[in-house]
Amino acid sequence: MQGWFAMALRRPRPGELVIAQSRNLAAVRALLEAGDMITYGIQWPAACYLIAFFGDDPVGVVGVEPKIDAALVRSLYVVESMRRRGIAGLLMAAARKAAHTRGARTLYLFAPPGVRKFFERIGFSEVGAERVLNTMRGAPEVEYYQAHPSALALELAFALDISNDGLIAR
Ligand SMILES: CC(C)(COP(=O)(O)OP(=O)(O)OC[C@H]1O[C@@H](n2cnc3c(N)ncnc32)[C@H](O)[C@@H]1OP(=O)(O)O)[C@@H](O)C(=O)NCCC(=O)NCCS
Repeated sequence: MQGWFAMALRRPRPGELVIAQSRNLAAVRALLEAGDMITYGIQWPAACYLIAFFGDDPVGVVGVEPKIDAALVRSLYVVESMRRRGIAGLLMAAARKAAHTRGARTLYLFAPPGVRKFFERIGFSEVGAERVLNTMRGAPEVEYYQAHPSALALELAFALDISNDGLIAR
């Protein structure tokens, strides 16, 4: 993966993967709709979306909904033809950094059981959905699940302590 990934504001070269924070909500929506993912609330002003570009093509996305000292990571999606190359891992690392920069000490997310292993491998542990719904009340994805309990019933909730991110051990 190293060598073809850059976190940069410049235009990606062909064959290079770049992850960039984006206000291009049309691109975010198009990616999520292609994956049949929830788009409710993506325009929430406090949210931050990161897009993975492969050359000029958007190939993945992740969203961060921050609230005081926590953040809900949502809408992680990678286009099928680009999967299993570590792009979701890079998007999650970028989301973690974006959330930490916005003051988050804990990351939360909802995900279907099929991706449990992926999130556990990057440090997340399963928690009760109520904890996430209560802590992140007001975040658009929480509003969506509160209005759609049958969709929530298909998801697991996860948490990760990131309070030590950025600390320099001496
Ligand atoms: C879940 C999802 C985002 C993963 O995207 P991805 O870019 O394929 O993820 P990664 O490549 O970072 O990791 C996926 C797997 O590929 C493996 N992998 C990473 N790089 C690899 C490589 N170079 N070669 C082979 N395997 C690799 C990872 O170890 C990981 O394995 P695991 O699932 O057993 O943990 C993608 O499948 C997707 O969009 N699914 C639909 C939406 C969804 O479920 N989103 C999550 C909840 S919001």
